[in-house]
Amino acid sequence: MSWKRVCATGEINGNAMKKFDVDGVAVLVASLGDGFIALPPLCPHMEEPLEDCGICHEGVLTCTKHLWQWNIRTGEIMGMAEVPLKTYETKQEGDEIFILLEKELTYDYDENTGE
Ligand code: FES
Repeated sequence: MSWKRVCATGEINGNAMKKFDVDGVAVLVASLGDGFIALPPLCPHMEEPLEDCGICHEGVLTCTKHLWQWNIRTGEIMGMAEVPLKTYETKQEGDEIFILLEKELTYDYDENTGE
């Protein structure tokens, strides 16, 4: 388990979210205004790409597909979401963003959708 560099802070604009490859692991980085957080790039509900479907506003991540929402800082469920959001431990050093990457975070989609 070690800290891996994801990107420079300047690569993410405003409240946008952007996807990066970290040692073969796809990671989505969201700007929170006062920091950054990294998470798996797919919605826990039905694998929709959060880079396209997700909106991060004032610490709340909303997937616009079916309006599941989470506190993006804690991963805690808000509103209609049924599965907590997973996030990587994220830190900023200077203008660089790092995550603690032990293994790729994924969701069990069969269980989540009940299909
Ligand atoms: S796919 Fe994201 S809420 Fe359904």
